[in-house]
Amino acid sequence: MTDENENAPSTPATPQAGRERMIMPQPIALVGTGIPSPQPEMMARLGPNAVFMMGDNPALPPMPKAPTLLDFFRLRFSAWAVRHLLQSAKSALDAGHDEKVVMACLLHDISNGALIRTDHGYWSAQLVAPYVSEEIAWAVKYHQALRYFPDESVGYEYPEEYIRFFGPDYVPPEYIRRDAEEARKHRWYMTSRLITLYDKYSFQEGWNVDPEEFTDIIGRHFRQPKEGLGFDNSPVAHMWRTMIWPNNFL
Ligand SMILES: [Fe+2]
Ligand SMILES: [Fe+2]
Repeated sequence: MTDENENAPSTPATPQAGRERMIMPQPIALVGTGIPSPQPEMMARLGPNAVFMMGDNPALPPMPKAPTLLDFFRLRFSAWAVRHLLQSAKSALDAGHDEKVVMACLLHDISNGALIRTDHGYWSAQLVAPYVSEEIAWAVKYHQALRYFPDESVGYEYPEEYIRFFGPDYVPPEYIRRDAEEARKHRWYMTSRLITLYDKYSFQEGWNVDPEEFTDIIGRHFRQPKEGLGFDNSPVAHMWRTMIWPNNFL
């Protein structure tokens, strides 16, 4: 082998090459749905030619070795989530808010991007907590509860969409009422409240916000680990890795 070849970028071998790679759905995506788990059938199919998927899924765009926040926006999050987060952040920016508010808007539903929707304010806050100020993580956490409660002082009303989503008689559970109450008394209340104000589902078609527009704000308010999200051994690294390899069996 010549030196030239040694220095050439190596083509990563497809993991588990030559075999069927079965994807087991996440338990939480099945529980309560009535959709039967394919696990028994898959277990029966295991053999020299069939394994459970571990590692890169060629159906997904490859992630860089040290992924950044915007890499997840580009390569993993659903188009819906990306548009929602970018439009929310852009609205806050155009309204002249502080960068911390813009950053909180950009991150507020991040767990919906490719991880989980249920209790998304809490999951989203946890995902970003090691990398942002305590105030931004706090605001992200509490926006979920504050969404259910109007605040006339800033012109925030109960969302029309929630009437459609949950029915007109829906009452949020006790922990949501408790957390909203706690948030209202907190010194960072307005940071979280402003997220709810720019949390609009009525997307303007054709309004495409360029994620690069937030590069500088992210640089100032999000401490990207040099090893990449998922590889910095932080308490939430596994959550980012789960989004890199969402189809790993274990
Ligand atoms: Fe939300
Ligand atoms: Fe939202």
